[in-house]
Amino acid sequence: MSALRVSGLSIARAGLPVVSGVDLVAEPGAISVVLGANGAGKTTLLEGLSGIIPVTGGTIAIGGSEVQNALAGLRSRAGLAHVEQGRTVFGQLTTDENLRIGLRKGAGTDEAYGLFPELTQRRQVRGGLLSGGEQQMLVIARALLTRPKVLLIDEMSAGLAPVIVTRLMHTVRRLADEGLAVLLVEQFAALALSIGDRAYVMRRGRFVYDGDCGSLAKAPDELHRLYLGTT
Ligand SMILES: Nc1ncnc2c1ncn2[C@@H]1O[C@H](COP(=O)(O)OP(=O)(O)OP(=O)(O)O)[C@@H](O)[C@H]1O
Ligand SMILES: [Mg+2]
Repeated sequence: MSALRVSGLSIARAGLPVVSGVDLVAEPGAISVVLGANGAGKTTLLEGLSGIIPVTGGTIAIGGSEVQNALAGLRSRAGLAHVEQGRTVFGQLTTDENLRIGLRKGAGTDEAYGLFPELTQRRQVRGGLLSGGEQQMLVIARALLTRPKVLLIDEMSAGLAPVIVTRLMHTVRRLADEGLAVLLVEQFAALALSIGDRAYVMRRGRFVYDGDCGSLAKAPDELHRLYLGTT
């Protein structure tokens, strides 16, 4: 069974359709990549999946249970976690406090520091003072502490040095290899396709490609055409 299965999903913003008729799956142990130009609707799609904004049509199933009408908290308990665009750390809270948000009383943060040892020496540093890469590690680690089955990640690489992006991508690949289903929204197409399994390209709220990452990685002209809609 797919960890996440989406059928015919539509989402509107300010009364205007932004995502239309999207079908996608995220499988345990695999990375599904969503590519697309600025404004295509990628963030809107993820926000509709996690329940930040309502959907206007279609179904969202997490582990076989439909959640499209459920509140965000219930989707989270069903196994969905969302790393939002823009590295949403709490700037005034320390790294440790950021990690403890949403954790059950007594639950530990060791796994987070195990995944990103770089954060260990930054434990007591306020989130706002961390580097961009450290902030991205922090929000990924925080999402994982909820023990999700499906992880949505929005624009992880934006504004980060290539060496950090590569490091984060390898970590995401390892998480998938350990059984997580990942839905990765990315502008950094080449690297995302190199670690991903299934690829989708979104243009003006619709998917115009649904296939494997390898084929798309070998066809940069095709990718360019899909992004821009030129033939
Ligand atoms: N809060 C909002 N209210 C109204 N329209 C919005 C809102 N947020 C986004 N939009 C519009 O929805 C469309 C899709 O935006 P979205 O942020 O989902 O795109 P994106 O693919 O994530 O782009 P980017 O790559 O720049 O992050 C755009 O036309 C945008 O202007
Ligand atoms: Mg976006």
